[in-house]
Amino acid sequence: MYRLTQEQKTRVKDLLSRMTLDEKIGQMNQESVSIVGGFDVPFEELIEMMTDGRISQEEFEKIMSTAEQDYHEDDIRAGLVGSLMVQDPRKCNELQRIAVEESRLGIPLMFGLDVIHGYRTVYPIAIAEAGSFDPDLFTRTARMAAKESRTQGVNWHFAPMLDVARDARWGRVSEGPGEDPYLVSQFARAKIEGLQGDMSSPENYVAACLKHYVAYGACESGRDYNTVSMATSMLYNSYLPPFKAAVEAGAATVMASFNDLNGVPCTVNQYTLRHILKDSWQFPGFVVSDANAIRECVAHGIAADEPEAGKKAAAAGMDVDMGTQIYKKYLREAVEKGEVPLSVIDEAVERILSVKMWLGLFEHPYVPEEAMDRYEVLPEEHRALAREAAEKSIVLLKNEGDILPLQKGQKISLVGELAASREEIIGAWAMSWRPTDCVSIQEGLEKAGATLEYFPCCGPESDIDEAQVQAACQYGDVIVAVVGETDAMSGEASSRADITLPGHQRELLQKLLASGKPVVTCLMNGRPLALQWEAKNVPAILECWHLGIEMGSAVAKVLLGEKNPEGRLASSFPAVTGMCPIYYNHPNTGRPGGRSKFTSRYLDAGFEALYPFGYGLSYTTYAFSDLQVEEQPDALQVTVNVSNTGNCAGVETVQLYMQDVTASIVRPVKELKGFAKVALAPGETKPVSLPLQKSDLGFYNDAGTYLLESGLFRIYVGGNSRDCLCQEVSIGF
Ligand code: NOJ
Repeated sequence: MYRLTQEQKTRVKDLLSRMTLDEKIGQMNQESVSIVGGFDVPFEELIEMMTDGRISQEEFEKIMSTAEQDYHEDDIRAGLVGSLMVQDPRKCNELQRIAVEESRLGIPLMFGLDVIHGYRTVYPIAIAEAGSFDPDLFTRTARMAAKESRTQGVNWHFAPMLDVARDARWGRVSEGPGEDPYLVSQFARAKIEGLQGDMSSPENYVAACLKHYVAYGACESGRDYNTVSMATSMLYNSYLPPFKAAVEAGAATVMASFNDLNGVPCTVNQYTLRHILKDSWQFPGFVVSDANAIRECVAHGIAADEPEAGKKAAAAGMDVDMGTQIYKKYLREAVEKGEVPLSVIDEAVERILSVKMWLGLFEHPYVPEEAMDRYEVLPEEHRALAREAAEKSIVLLKNEGDILPLQKGQKISLVGELAASREEIIGAWAMSWRPTDCVSIQEGLEKAGATLEYFPCCGPESDIDEAQVQAACQYGDVIVAVVGETDAMSGEASSRADITLPGHQRELLQKLLASGKPVVTCLMNGRPLALQWEAKNVPAILECWHLGIEMGSAVAKVLLGEKNPEGRLASSFPAVTGMCPIYYNHPNTGRPGGRSKFTSRYLDAGFEALYPFGYGLSYTTYAFSDLQVEEQPDALQVTVNVSNTGNCAGVETVQLYMQDVTASIVRPVKELKGFAKVALAPGETKPVSLPLQKSDLGFYNDAGTYLLESGLFRIYVGGNSRDCLCQEVSIGF
């Protein structure tokens, strides 16, 4: 975990005492590779130009392949760069050599990258992996990503993404572990352990970066980068806990979010950065801005120009400027004029040098040559973990008439462009994967020996091919339709105002259903979709998300019954888009949603999620009985019997929720407080115990004070957030 020895602290102090002001500010400057030549624009702007249509994708690719890239060698030599985003291990070594051997003080560089759900081995997107409810898995996938990337020069992951997200229109719901503060906090701790926990060799760990701090997931109307207004109690109860958990677990760095929070951009937010993070939580690491975010404070209208934005950011405790060079250009003058105290700079640089020291970069600055090609062929152990994660993340949403699993020998018409894709299975924010490592759904089924023919028919962005649809309807005993979103439809800058199946895919399903043959829908998507029509009309629905390189193998195993699905939803699914934001742990209203008109509901969609948080079916069935809540001095011991009432073995996720029935502020109708996975043979019953500390029954008020209030609590246990057994208990504090 991130902690320095006394000797390391002394070395940092000594180094700091020998630095010039320019060298100090250099450590606060993070560069990305920029393009020079005919196009003297930063890489980000080039991407923007392509996105807004000023240049085409072909033009972009041509520029990238021919353009000279500026790696800022001269600035590195002069000690004016602290970190960079670079992926090539040989390039990392080359630049590191300049920093270590040619700069005056030889301070090594950090190399950061977005390693969100895997480096070379890509795992399920976070919203999917979170649904495995398996913290040990969260740790193992992160640890493997850390090892893979560190041997390629990347020693700093811009991950985990810990934004509690409750509006599926927001494209970035894919990158984070869902809507629930408790589950996201479990994910946070486990990821920090995975990324930073194995310090047995510098090759085994990286610095984590908690993002996006904070409340980015609550951007108004799910539109990316949008404004956020929220009560302080909501901030403390729902959006801060995962960050707090990760800081307590020893995370080394934090990235501030793009959004403003109650009028102050998080990039310059004294309250969140100084008061909460650095003062109250005593976070010892450093804070980096998001890309270009210091400059964007001018567009926000919180700073008149770049120098003012730089001053505000530094004063607020923003230690590193990602990509704008504003610190590099203007901080020196601000310090000389006394507008930014030198102590602010010293504090930032001490934090940055400390992380570098802890990473072992002063002793091991280079990527060992022999490690660079270690993953030329991906080891089976890595593939096996990707497969395990993918299998555990698949959620069975509907299985009418037990169509699934498919029967041996059944002829399958495999339909949908996504079914044959090796690219779309990867999901948003994966950068270092190789198509040759990927198993498409078609390949997965073929390798598993299924009898099938493939008919592309239609994809998320293409028209329906009628002839192929007809052929698909004729061939199979069963039709498996793979529909959903491309990976570019979720992730950053990928909000959607309509989250039904994109393009003509619903029409495709209609045509397939008209054949009268059984239709199984496999969804491949990066967010909860609005599936009202599908839930009504399609007999079997399997939520497969973007599952990473082994997606095809995992989906095949579940379809063919070799794996009993056990994944759960980490995010509620609305029936229709207009219900967003929707989340199970909402505050109670004075008129809770019900059947009658004057309750909190929609005339045309009711009030309940189509599929609630924690939901997921299995090829067997489970029953809960005998819920007991025993009060102990400091805890409640909650026990329940869980039975497998079906015909095959399975794994049930037992979920513990609570409600503070009466409190001084309105509390959520339910809050997750614990979970356990239990493996059960057919007919087997097991008792499951879930401890609930009394100290976890409280909440924060609008002053950010944690309160434990005596009174009535409801304890719920069940297999999802909707269907639970309940016991009431009175607790005095
Ligand atoms: C912008 C994104 O918001 C952030 O998540 C990412 O880490 C940085 N760019 C760097 O790529």
